[in-house]
Parts: sequence; C-alpha cells; structure tokens
Amino acid sequence: MTPVLDIRGLSKGFTMHHLGQGFAAFSDISFAVNAGEFVLLKGANGAGKSTLLRTLYRSYLPQAGQVLFQSAHGPIDLARAADIDITYLRQTEIGFVTQFLVARPRVSAEALVAEPLRLAGMAEPEALDTARHWLQTFGVKDTLWPAYPTTFSGGEQQKVNLARALIRPHKLLLLDEPTASLDANARAALVRRLADLKAQGTAMIGVFHHPGDVEHLIDRVIDLTPNAPLQEERQDVAV
Ligand SMILES: Nc1ncnc2c1ncn2[C@@H]1O[C@H](COP(=O)(O)OP(=O)(O)O)[C@@H](O)[C@H]1O
Ligand SMILES: [Mg+2]
Repeated sequence: MTPVLDIRGLSKGFTMHHLGQGFAAFSDISFAVNAGEFVLLKGANGAGKSTLLRTLYRSYLPQAGQVLFQSAHGPIDLARAADIDITYLRQTEIGFVTQFLVARPRVSAEALVAEPLRLAGMAEPEALDTARHWLQTFGVKDTLWPAYPTTFSGGEQQKVNLARALIRPHKLLLLDEPTASLDANARAALVRRLADLKAQGTAMIGVFHHPGDVEHLIDRVIDLTPNAPLQEERQDVAV
C-alpha cells in the first residue's frame, strides 16, 4: 500500500537574525503514514512538534527533505508544491486542527462551520443543517449558532473551531493539541469523531495534551525529543 504521506529526510531550522545564529527545530525526520493510521507526536515543550505539523501543512518551508502526499490527482511533494496547489489541497484533502478559531467579523458560528461544505459544493440548507449538528455535538448551545464567534468565550470558540475543522473528512488530518482546555464532553465528542474519521480512512498526525484520550486510536508514536529513537511501535508504548 502506498502511504498517504511519506516524509523523507525532513529538516527545518530557524535563523535568529538578531542573534546572528540559527538552530534546528528538527532534522532528518523520516516516517510514513498510511490511510486510517494515527500517529502520535510526542516530545517536550520546544521539541519541534508544532513546527513539524506547520511544515507538513506548508505554513513553513523546510530546508531539506520531501513530503510526498498521495492526492486525488496523483503524488505531490508538499515541500516543493506551488502555493496555489497547497491552497487547493487545504480546501479539499488536508485538514489542520488547532486550539484556535480564526473568527471573522459578522460571520455567524453556523455559517463559519458550514463554509467548508459550501466550498465543496453543498447546497446552503443542507450545509447549515450539518453545521448545526456538529455545533450541537461539540456542545455549543443553540442560541449561539446564529451569533458571531468573535464575542464567544475561549472554550466556545474552540468548539466552533472543532466543528468547522472536522465537518468534512480529509485524506490527511494534522492536529495540534486540539483538546487543550476543552471540557470533558467536548473532548469525548472529538475523540468519537476522530475514531469515525480513522475508520473512514483519514491518515492523522497529532499532538495531544492528554494522550490518554486517544490511546485506543494510536498506531505509532514519533518522539521528537533530541536523541530519542524516532519511532516506537505502539505495543511498546505507554502514553
Ligand atoms: N517562527 C519561528 N521563529 C523562530 N523560532 C521558532 C518559530 N517557531 C518555533 N520556533 C522555535 O522552534 C522550537 C520548536 O518550537 P515548537 O515546534 O513550537 O515546539 P513544540 O510544539 O514541540 O512545543 C522552539 O524553540 C521555538 O521557540
Ligand atoms: Mg506546540
């Protein structure tokens, strides 16, 4: 089976211009993720977990290495793809969930959540119905659905963010601590949704504040701690 994502020799560093020196956030990372596989990234604060996810999402350009993604239109190296192709893949096949909602002025919670379905061509009434289903599932009360999330509490915004990010399946889903500071019900709803998506074949790479929440989903652990053995098989791992 060809992996959904095949990462080869990936390195990313930052230059601190004011200090006149650079450092590596991670270097020479290689691993592959198959359809329906769930890879947990671990490592201390500053180990490079968020930087790796942002590099895979191509928010950062790596200095070296390949990120081969099997898109619906054939293989593409995300490290070298044109920005326009990256934009298209983000709308269709590659999702990224963080703790933070990017709210927009005068866009209601339900419209924001429905937007990925509207962009995929779904008619508005059906997209709104589906959006309301996910807002309900993540515990956003119905009085807030037509309201503007710019005024919501942090936890409410996080739930809107999850509903929007997970409303449609992706081939590849990147997750950066999506459960940090969520209440128990929303965490449970998130884990159920991830299990569903995994069963539908989504490949996932994620960092979790409470890895115990997703323990039953984890196939492999990648440890970004410097000098740690990179890959551990699931059965050897206590999370
Ligand atoms: N845009 C950036 N510019 C400079 N340094 C950065 C940038 N992003 C992250 N870093 C640094 O890279 C290292 C890894 O950060 P990060 O990937 O956020 O770690 P983690 O998510 O594992 O806690 C840290 O030392 C951080 O300060
Ligand atoms: Mg991080």
